[in-house]
Amino acid sequence: MTPNIRKKSVVGNWKMFTNSAEAGRLAGAIAEGLGTDDHVSVAICPPFPYLGLVGAMLKGSCVALGAQNMYPKKEGAFTGEVSPTMLLDLGCKSVIVGHSERRHVFGETDALINEKVLFAHDLGLHIFFCIGETLDERSSGQTEKVLDRQLSLGLAGVPKDALNRLSVGYEPVWAIGSTGHHATPQQAQAAHVMIRRHFGRIFGTDPANALCIQYGGSVKPDNAVALFEQPDVDGALIGADSLNTEEFLAIIQAAASEPKATGKAA
Ligand code: PGA
Repeated sequence: MTPNIRKKSVVGNWKMFTNSAEAGRLAGAIAEGLGTDDHVSVAICPPFPYLGLVGAMLKGSCVALGAQNMYPKKEGAFTGEVSPTMLLDLGCKSVIVGHSERRHVFGETDALINEKVLFAHDLGLHIFFCIGETLDERSSGQTEKVLDRQLSLGLAGVPKDALNRLSVGYEPVWAIGSTGHHATPQQAQAAHVMIRRHFGRIFGTDPANALCIQYGGSVKPDNAVALFEQPDVDGALIGADSLNTEEFLAIIQAAASEPKATGKAA
């Protein structure tokens, strides 16, 4: 049987951290540390005000520029929002949509997230589409139901030709940030299998087997290897540790050294 090959992908989400000096230094150090090594797809998503600056630091490197959010319109009277055309103008290749902080702190609904996914696709951005259950949902045995719902509603109407520009980030809400918890490799693997299975029900087996599913939630160099060893963990979304060059590079290194054969939907 031919092994299924998916390139690993590591995304740094800087959230609302850094200032212009730190952002420039960090981007430069990551680009330099990675050099010409493109075994892993790497993107960093700085805060909006530093996109131009970070983009300039990443020019000619293997690190792609991404954004943390967008509003699903090209332009208009939407005070405080940022359009995907502006992101493209600044050199962004990708955007995070549906991050748990957008869902739970800012109240984004599956319907708005779906609008963002469709709009980002129309404009040609790669989408890091994030889903994940809360602790209550996990404790009451609803994890699979929640993931299925977020996938079905968030990806409604996405054409199959968009799927090569879409990754799914599994980010259990209870494991993100300084909660003191992270999913065990087995918990991450089990959730990724659920995601791949449901994605397969929506889009078919081949797209599901090709889908890159990243895990996010307190990934660090010391748990990255065991996570990446899981057949359905194809990468990671990194918050806190993406603000530290050594730790971020060590996580990328861990992703690069994992065997290439990976899990299948069916
Ligand atoms: P964390 O954040 O690595 O700080 O837990 C992950 C994320 O929000 O993507």
